[in-house]
Amino acid sequence: MANHCPGLRVHRSMPVLAGVYRCSSSYSRTCAVGSVPSPSEALKKWKTWGRAPRRLVLGLGVSVLAQFMSMADTFGRNSFIASARQKSDVEEILKNAEWPEQFPFKEEDFQRFDESPDTVFYESPRFVTHIDDPAIDALTKYYSKVFPPSNTPGVSILDMCSSWVSHFPAGYKQDRIVGLGMNEEELKRNPVLTEYAVQDLNLNPKIPFEDNSFDIITNVVSVDYLTKPLDVFKEMCRTLKPGGLAIISFSNRCFFTKAISIWTSTGDTDHALIVASYFHYAGGFEPPQAVDISPNPGRSDPMYIIYSKKLTTA
Ligand SMILES: C[S@@+](CC[C@H](N)C(=O)[O-])C[C@H]1O[C@@H](n2cnc3c(N)ncnc32)[C@H](O)[C@@H]1O
Repeated sequence: MANHCPGLRVHRSMPVLAGVYRCSSSYSRTCAVGSVPSPSEALKKWKTWGRAPRRLVLGLGVSVLAQFMSMADTFGRNSFIASARQKSDVEEILKNAEWPEQFPFKEEDFQRFDESPDTVFYESPRFVTHIDDPAIDALTKYYSKVFPPSNTPGVSILDMCSSWVSHFPAGYKQDRIVGLGMNEEELKRNPVLTEYAVQDLNLNPKIPFEDNSFDIITNVVSVDYLTKPLDVFKEMCRTLKPGGLAIISFSNRCFFTKAISIWTSTGDTDHALIVASYFHYAGGFEPPQAVDISPNPGRSDPMYIIYSKKLTTA
């Protein structure tokens, strides 16, 4: 991946997968807008403060959280302990979420280091994977548990922010599986798709399908690139069938120049709250739930799911 951050220190020991850097890296810390802690720093801090202050994230805004956490310890120490805590934190955090009346994030929270058109960044295909194999396996296993059986008549699925892979179970088929993404060459190669659409959701968040079209909408390791997430989540609600399921998955890697600042400045547990807030404030969804499907905490990429169903009354 091209380096869009001039004058950066490269953290050489940091694992790099397909040009996607861990959000917790010193690299992203240098790039992102504002003060940028790492997930492990965040977790260490919360370990001291307990759960209550974390709920303040949504009340005070993440920039306040980031200010607190910029005082945290050097990245890397106790990372195994931090990883071990992540599992329960991500799953537990939504149970304690107290949502303010208004969407608490500001315009600047959705700015990116690279504000050039996304069409430029995604112009060339990347036939790579963005998370490691155990994380992919964990996601595929999760899908095989919650997806309707292959070849169920009438089932339609939308894979948002799709590429040449969707990580669906091997041989999985439905009448309609649509991929929506930025790069046509990638989408053309995706074997699970029956059709695709190329669209920049940051320019035009309207999902180009009719109301009540899909039984399931997936979005894999890409929610952090959405600059108008509430519009997109409202569109997800519109295009899901009543009772339809939205599954948003994320890890701790990202194209940091293209991820929104609220993402690059916070850690995994905050990411769970951020995604859940999109469901909550978009409206029309059941209370979002978190599942930690991380395969080997501390040794493989973590993998988290935030899911919700469209209300049958919406
Ligand atoms: C890290 S890749 C993940 C791809 C795929 N979901 C996967 O799991 O391998 C990010 C994806 O988000 C999509 N994406 C990024 N910005 C987008 C935008 N503004 N509108 C629509 N899709 C976008 C890109 O097409 C790209 O495929």
